[in-house]
Amino acid sequence: MAIRKIRVDGDDVLRKTCKPVDKMTDRIRTLIGDMYDTMYEANGVGLAAPQVGILKRIVVIDVCDGEAYTLINPEIVSVDGEQVGEEGCLSLPGLSGQVTRPNHVVCKALDIDMNEIIVEGEELFARAICHELDHLDGILYKDKVEGGLHRVDMEIEESNDK
Ligand code: NI
Repeated sequence: MAIRKIRVDGDDVLRKTCKPVDKMTDRIRTLIGDMYDTMYEANGVGLAAPQVGILKRIVVIDVCDGEAYTLINPEIVSVDGEQVGEEGCLSLPGLSGQVTRPNHVVCKALDIDMNEIIVEGEELFARAICHELDHLDGILYKDKVEGGLHRVDMEIEESNDK
């Protein structure tokens, strides 16, 4: 497995619509493994395939609640409630902004063995599902931000420099 380069805002690949995965291959399994490595290395809680330059409908999410999720061809089937909170994205490094999202999301997807799964999440997990699925349609959270983007402290990077 390997760390892949994270594409940043301004790269056209982040604005494309991704294609569904029709069958699992060794190549896609490797991609998914690399997506986890890349997400953990960058201290992210989610990553979508276009963020590493691959236009396929695949996301990985780990909001540190004990389970990581691989969602292939994901679709939101129902939403409920509302949450307002700060969001960031590995493709917009050092930035954050307020976005309103549903508080509860039910998502249908395929897992890495191409079995259908239903994933249900609230709060941060619901936010991550919405954010990552948006990436598959070329949408960035900055398109939905309320009150503009602001800079956040890059404490981790600063400490790495020492
Ligand atoms: Ni993102």
